[in-house]
Amino acid sequence: MLFLCLLLAIGISSGRKVSEHRKISRIAFGSCANQFGNTNPEIFYSIANWKPEIYIWLGDIIYADRYSLPKIFIPTDEKSWRLKYNNFKNSNEYQNLMNTTMITGIYDDHDYGINDGDKSFIYKELGKKLVLEFLDDGSIRDHEGIYHSFVFEDLKLILLDVRWFRDNKWDNEGDSIGEEQWAWLEKELQSGERVKIIGNGLQVNTFDRSGPAEKWHEKSRLRLWKLLDKYPGVLLLSGDVHYGELLRIPCSKHVVYEMTSSGLTHSVFSTYNMISWYFLNIWQSFTFNVGKKYLHKNFGTIEIDWEAQIIHVSIRDSYNIPQIEHTILINELYGPNPDIEFCQADFKVLKYKHALSAFAVFILPFLLIFLATMIFLRKYSNSF
Ligand SMILES: [Fe+2]
Repeated sequence: MLFLCLLLAIGISSGRKVSEHRKISRIAFGSCANQFGNTNPEIFYSIANWKPEIYIWLGDIIYADRYSLPKIFIPTDEKSWRLKYNNFKNSNEYQNLMNTTMITGIYDDHDYGINDGDKSFIYKELGKKLVLEFLDDGSIRDHEGIYHSFVFEDLKLILLDVRWFRDNKWDNEGDSIGEEQWAWLEKELQSGERVKIIGNGLQVNTFDRSGPAEKWHEKSRLRLWKLLDKYPGVLLLSGDVHYGELLRIPCSKHVVYEMTSSGLTHSVFSTYNMISWYFLNIWQSFTFNVGKKYLHKNFGTIEIDWEAQIIHVSIRDSYNIPQIEHTILINELYGPNPDIEFCQADFKVLKYKHALSAFAVFILPFLLIFLATMIFLRKYSNSF
């Protein structure tokens, strides 16, 4: 009876702690949940049914900030912030996932506390405290920010904090992760595990965005590339954009892959319908995609066959059906990369193509309407 009372008093199950130094082969990950009260229980049951040994959050576990015009997003108070985490943690689908697998992760902007949050966010200590309480993965992150790493025999998982030290998004010379974290990251990459997974909230390899948000600062992206040239064997994971994709970047001494899974409970398609298809396939169509962009709710999976030295990756829908699949040879992550010669040329072509597609999306429709109006007016006036 006393035990039952204790359980009731505690209320929320604390979940499994991450236990290191054992072989891991099955990893699932995802981001962006619980915005505007959206839920998608099926997807959390699907993740559990896939039987990952670890599940990684890549940010926007909850949307702590509130939608309020004219500023669009404003921070919330501690009570409502905590309540959002607790409501989700108490849900049947999340309890089921917690009982199935180890869970860890990092925040992105909305669970950090504010849309597009950076180093200047005044409630960042609270954001850190609440996300670590929610994750409760047994890790000790007693430094600025919440970057961390775990080692599972020949696999290292590195989680980067792209909010705590981040310069303003409009700062062209800005840095995304801060000197302290750069020094730590280089040290982490020096260890000898065969495969290293770097997970963070923001997409790294985006060449088709005109805005400053939703990506690393350009200088930081290039700095990360240099590090990856020096320390290969890395697979990048990211979230944030509310669709899923797999990028294969040939612009390094070895091939770099980036897997993006975003939108567990909402996606660009569930929010914007066909408009999202138009933008992502016309305006943002020129990337290094392997397969299509998947615009619906999704989670990501990584399955490592240590004997065959291959990694099978997929982006799956709410019902566990793979929508993007690819097999990576671990050797491929170590190069040498035969495509590197074409890399810079590709970048220039990408930029021109992107300018053309921006023209097609934003200017061409107006030109066509103008032309049609002129033709109509001319015809109309000629008839008199
Ligand atoms: Fe999000």
